Amino acid sequence: MARPHIEPFVDRDVGFKKLNLPGFKKGVHYKMLSMDKETGACTMTVQYDAGFKQPPGFSYSEVEIFLQEGHLMIGDKRCEKGTYIFAPAGTSLPAMSTDEGCLALVFYNFGPPSFQESDADHDKADKSQKRTMVDSYFGMDWQVPTLFPQTAPGCLLKILHLDPKTFAMTFLYCMTPGFWQDNISYHDVAEEAYHIWGTSWMMQFGDLPTGGYFYRPAYINHGCFRSDLGILAIGRTDGDLHNYFHHDPFSTPEENHHRAAAKLARMKPALYQWILTNEHNHLPHDFEYPNDTYDTSGYDSGIHMHDDGSSHSHKSNGPHSHLNQKKKAKK
Ligand SMILES: [Fe+2]
Repeated sequence: MARPHIEPFVDRDVGFKKLNLPGFKKGVHYKMLSMDKETGACTMTVQYDAGFKQPPGFSYSEVEIFLQEGHLMIGDKRCEKGTYIFAPAGTSLPAMSTDEGCLALVFYNFGPPSFQESDADHDKADKSQKRTMVDSYFGMDWQVPTLFPQTAPGCLLKILHLDPKTFAMTFLYCMTPGFWQDNISYHDVAEEAYHIWGTSWMMQFGDLPTGGYFYRPAYINHGCFRSDLGILAIGRTDGDLHNYFHHDPFSTPEENHHRAAAKLARMKPALYQWILTNEHNHLPHDFEYPNDTYDTSGYDSGIHMHDDGSSHSHKSNGPHSHLNQKKKAKK
C-alpha cells in the first residue's frame, strides 16, 4: 500500500462528486480521502442517495464498508449505523438498497473501486478469508487494547477485522472524555483513520474534528494526544501494529527506522542475524503457505526520507530533483 501522507484532512471541507465508474448504479457520490495512484486502492466517504439500488455483485478488490448514518438493506437484512462489512476480493455481496439514503465509509484495499453484477463469487475469489458483517455498535464490546506497549488508559478498541497472515487490522476506537497521552508514537506499518464523531488534538497536526481523516505512512511521529470530549473513530493498518513510543519530537523517520531495527536486533537477535547473513538474495519461505512469495524489493512505503528529516512520497510526486533538500541540509 503506497499512498502519500495525508494529515490532517477533513471531508466536511469538500463536496461530493458523482461516482460514474462502469458497473456502478446511479445514486453514488463520493469524497476521496486517499488513493494509491498506482493500484487505484482508495478510501472514500460515500453517500448512497435515497432510492439507491444495487443487485448482488462483487468487487475485484477486497472491500470494507462501514455504515455511518441512515439504513442500508443488504439482502433482506436492514442494517443500522455501525454496521461493518468485510468482503474478500471477488466475493459476492447480496443486493443493496436504501429508501432514505445513507452515509458510509468504503475501503478498496488493493485495487480501484469496482462492481461486477453477479450472484456468485468470481472463480478466483479470495477464499483465504470469510465475508463478515457485524453490528459494531451494539454487537461488540469495547476492549482494553492488548497491543504492547499499550496506549494510555481511555483508548479502547473493537477489532472489526484482522488479516490472519499480515495482521493488517481494521478497528473501531474511542478516546474517552479527558483522554491524554504524553508520548510520541510511530509504527512499522501505514495507518489510516476517520473520525466518526468528535475532536482530538495532536502535537504535530493540531485538531482533527468529526469527518477528519489521515493516511500516515510508517515511521512518522504522531502524538502527544488529548481529547476534551472524546472521539469515536475507525482505523486501519496495512500490517502488524507495534507502538514504538518515545519522547523526542525531533526524531526523523530515518532515525525511527533505525530505532525499530535496533529494537528487532535487541529483542530477536537470532532472527535479525539470520536475515542479515542467511544466503543473501534468497527470499524467506513459509512452509505453512508454500505458494506465497515474499519479495519486498518493490515495496513502496509511500514515503521517502532526506538527511534533513523532510520526507515525501516519490511515486506520488513523480520524478524530481533532490538539490533543494541537499542545499537545505548543508545550511
Ligand atoms: Fe498510531
